[in-house]
Amino acid sequence: MSTIRLITCMLIILCLPWRAAGADLTLRLIAAESVHKFPFFSSETPVWAYNGKTPGPVIRVREGAMLNIEFINKLAEPSSIHWHGLRIDNAMDGVPGVTQPPVAPGNTFNYQLSLNEAGTFWYHPHLNAGEQIERGLKGVLVVEEADKKPWSDEWVWLFDDWLLQKDGTIYAHFNTHHDLMHDGRWGNAPTVNGKFRPIFQAVPGQRIRIRLINGANARIFNPYLGGLRANMIAVDGRPVSRVFAYEGFYLSPGNRIDLDVTIPADAAGKEYNIENLYGRKPFVMGKIKVADRAPVKTPLLEPPTAETFIPAETFQDAPVLKTWDLNAIRGGQYGIGWSMNQRLWPQADTAAVQMGKPYRIVFNNSSSRLHPMHIHGVFFRVLERNGKKDVEPFTRDTVLVGPNENVVIGLVPEHPGIWLTHCHVLSHAEAGMRTTINVSD
Ligand code: C2O
Ligand code: CU
Repeated sequence: MSTIRLITCMLIILCLPWRAAGADLTLRLIAAESVHKFPFFSSETPVWAYNGKTPGPVIRVREGAMLNIEFINKLAEPSSIHWHGLRIDNAMDGVPGVTQPPVAPGNTFNYQLSLNEAGTFWYHPHLNAGEQIERGLKGVLVVEEADKKPWSDEWVWLFDDWLLQKDGTIYAHFNTHHDLMHDGRWGNAPTVNGKFRPIFQAVPGQRIRIRLINGANARIFNPYLGGLRANMIAVDGRPVSRVFAYEGFYLSPGNRIDLDVTIPADAAGKEYNIENLYGRKPFVMGKIKVADRAPVKTPLLEPPTAETFIPAETFQDAPVLKTWDLNAIRGGQYGIGWSMNQRLWPQADTAAVQMGKPYRIVFNNSSSRLHPMHIHGVFFRVLERNGKKDVEPFTRDTVLVGPNENVVIGLVPEHPGIWLTHCHVLSHAEAGMRTTINVSD
C-alpha cells in the first residue's frame, strides 16, 4: 500500500466515528405528571409534561441528522408524539389509528426522525390532544441549517395560553359545549415558554433570529415587537422565497414564523413590549430589555431563502382534489360535531393523491368560526382567498380559514403515506374535524 493510500485510509477511519457521532442523536422523552409554577398562585399547578418541564426541552439538531427519540409514556392514558411540520417517514408521524397504535401507559415507542429540512418545528401528542396538549405536553424542535448563519443570538418563543382556575389548577373540562360552540378553548393566562411576561435581554446592535411558535389549543396570536422592525424569513419552518418586512401575522395554533430583528445601535437602555394584537385589546406577552451599553457590531448575513418553490402557475390547471366544506353538525360524541363535508372522524371524507403531481384543495368555511387547517407531511401554498388571487411568498403547513372564508391551496405531495389533515383548534379536531390525504407513489 502506498503511503498516500495508507494516509487516506487512516483519515477515513479517523473520520468515521466523528461523522457517526455528529449525525446521530438519541434522546429520551418521558411524558408524565409534573408541576409548573405560575406567578399567580402560591401553590404549584399540576401539569402533564415531557421530562418534567412544560414546555418540554427545546430539541436542537443539525440538518441531515438522524434523531432517535425514545418516547416513554408514564401517563395514566395512552399517548403518542407527533412532529408538527416534519416531512418524515409516515410511520414516524405519531398519529394513533393512522400511522401507529397508541402508546399504552408504561410503554415505549422509538421515533426515528431523519431531519433533512432545516426549520422551526414542534412536537406534541396526537391522542386526546385537546386535553394532553392543554395540560402541558408540547415542545420545540429546531433543525439548524448545515451552514448556520452568524446571528448574534437566537430566541425561541413558544406562545401558549392556559385556562387556570383561582385554586391554581388547570380547568379540567375539555372539549366542552362552550369550546365547541366557539373557537375552541381560549385561556386566561398567556405565556411565552411557560412563563408569564418573561424578559429577554438584548444588546444594542445585536441581530437576533426569533423563532415563534403557537402551541396554544385555539388562541390566535398576532405578534407585535413594540415597534422594533423585523423581517419575515420563514413561515411554518420553511424559508420564505423572498425576505419581506414583518407587518403582523395571524399565528394560529400550529403556525411558526421566524423573524430577523436588529436591535438599533441607539437603543441602549430601551424596552420593547412584545404584544399580541389579535383580539379586542392588545396584550403584553413579554418584554425585550436592551442593555445600557455601547452597541456591538451587527453581523452581516443573508438569511436563507427558498427560491425553489413550485411556481403558483403550476396549479392553474391542476385538478381540484377536494373541496372540504367546514361546518358544525349535530352528533358525534360531544353532541356537536365539527365536520368536513358533513362527515365526522373517523367516518371521514378522505382524499387520495399521487406523489409528484400538483393538486388544488379548497377549504370552504361555512361556519362563523375559525379553522386553522393543518396538513401533515406536506407544505402547501395559498393561492386564493374568497375568490381573489392571493399567492403568498412562502409555503405553509397550517392555514387559518376565517369565518365564511374560502381558501384555495396548491400542493405537490412528495412523501408517500397517510397524512392526517385537520383543524388545529384541538376541540374542533376532537369533535370530528379530521381527515386524511393518502399519498401513493
Ligand atoms: Cu400540530 Cu396534527 O398537528
Ligand atoms: Cu376548527
